[in-house]
Amino acid sequence: MSFGLLKIAAALAALGLFVSACDRGASRAPEWTEAEVTTLKSLWLESLPDLPDDPSNAVANNAIAAEFGRKLFLDARLSANGGVSCSTCHQVARRFTDGLRKARALGLSDRNTPSIVGSQYSPWQYWDGRRDSQWAQALAPLENAHEHGTSRAQVVDTVFGDTDYRMTYEALFGPLQNPAGSSNVELNIAFANIGKSIAAFERTIMPTTSRFDEYVAALVRGNADAQREILNADEKAGLRLFISKANCTQCHNGPLLTNHEFHNTGVLNFPGDVPDKARAGGVREVFGSEFNCRSIYSDDSAGHCPELDFARTGIELIGATKTPSLRNLEHTAPFMHKGQLPSIADVLDHYNKAPDAMIGHNEAEPLGLNTAELQQLEAFLTTLTAPVSELGVEL
Ligand code: HEC
Ligand code: HEC
Repeated sequence: MSFGLLKIAAALAALGLFVSACDRGASRAPEWTEAEVTTLKSLWLESLPDLPDDPSNAVANNAIAAEFGRKLFLDARLSANGGVSCSTCHQVARRFTDGLRKARALGLSDRNTPSIVGSQYSPWQYWDGRRDSQWAQALAPLENAHEHGTSRAQVVDTVFGDTDYRMTYEALFGPLQNPAGSSNVELNIAFANIGKSIAAFERTIMPTTSRFDEYVAALVRGNADAQREILNADEKAGLRLFISKANCTQCHNGPLLTNHEFHNTGVLNFPGDVPDKARAGGVREVFGSEFNCRSIYSDDSAGHCPELDFARTGIELIGATKTPSLRNLEHTAPFMHKGQLPSIADVLDHYNKAPDAMIGHNEAEPLGLNTAELQQLEAFLTTLTAPVSELGVEL
């Protein structure tokens, strides 16, 4: 090699060193500002607090109750035709959704089946929050004519008539009477206990680590190579849009990507559907619910019901639905409370246009994003997919 070539090679080697130093971030401005890193950490699964206790449910954290609840969740005997279980609509492989616009079992439901992964963190259940605990929620589908279509007496009778179930029930809650000879209150106590066991199971349905979470972990550790490998340039650009220009974190914030609040986002109905008052109706219903936090069936002897005490009731709730989690969207289409939007791209197009609401007022503003930006946002949203936690629930 000539001297000239050697010099060029040395210069190239030096340049290589310089480039790799830049790669390691030694002489390049950090990709995220300190404020952005704080936001990213707030969305990270590691930031999910421990699940708060539920004083209204004495078996909320009881492993035997959770196992009993898991069996009940899968048990089609708890239905009028012996063919419907909770998992008919909340299918594990679909992250506890069913792939349908509106749920269907004995009949057609009014709304889309939401994922229940992480729903144990929400103070309100359903798109309109018409139940204030998971145990009270679990009782409703059993008696709903479109869903399980059974009755509380039949449900208690199924548990009473199954030796294993009855032994487990009695170990948890004490003697179970034959529902045929029970008073209404006794029957309701047994029915509520069955709901409390299902809720104990649902409390174990935790979100698991997605690529986004791995990325934030790498960012926190300062591992630039891992950061580059985990998310590509489009996914990162989408993440930046998500927390800035597209304003998604106004409502989809925290590690579950939801503020658990009710908002009107102007989602249009299918032709012929009556516009849904959503939370405006749900808040009235929860106050009247037979099994709400203030009912005699709550196990909280102190009777603290701060959610009910401070529930908002204003007209801004007309057409407002609960902000859903954005984890696992790749498995939970179609989207929105009536399954109006078939794909993530359709959802983003909706936010970009922000049409006038059919009922109430759309809180979101048009975004003015271009096609490339919409694609980047979509790329980011798919990084929130994660495996289902080990639940022992059949796929
Ligand atoms: C026919 C299908 C179907 C069946 C069966 C069914 N669900 Fe649902 N589930 C739905 C639909 C639809 C919604 C939303 C309804 C609404 O908001 O008005 C829902 C909502 C929920 C929610 C609220 C989640 C949230 O984030 O607000 C939970 C929890 C839940 N179901 C658990 C259960 C349990 C437990 C059972 C069995 C006892 C069950 N479901 C049976 C379709 C079904
Ligand atoms: C004003 C609060 C608010 C803002 C801002 C907002 N969302 Fe939503 N999001 C909601 C609510 C509420 C729903 C449920 C709407 C419905 O079904 O009526 C929802 C639904 C969704 C869904 C459907 C999820 C499902 O399971 O059906 C996706 C995806 C979504 N939002 C993504 C985004 C993205 C991306 C942004 C930013 C461009 C954004 N959202 C901005 C509140 C908001």
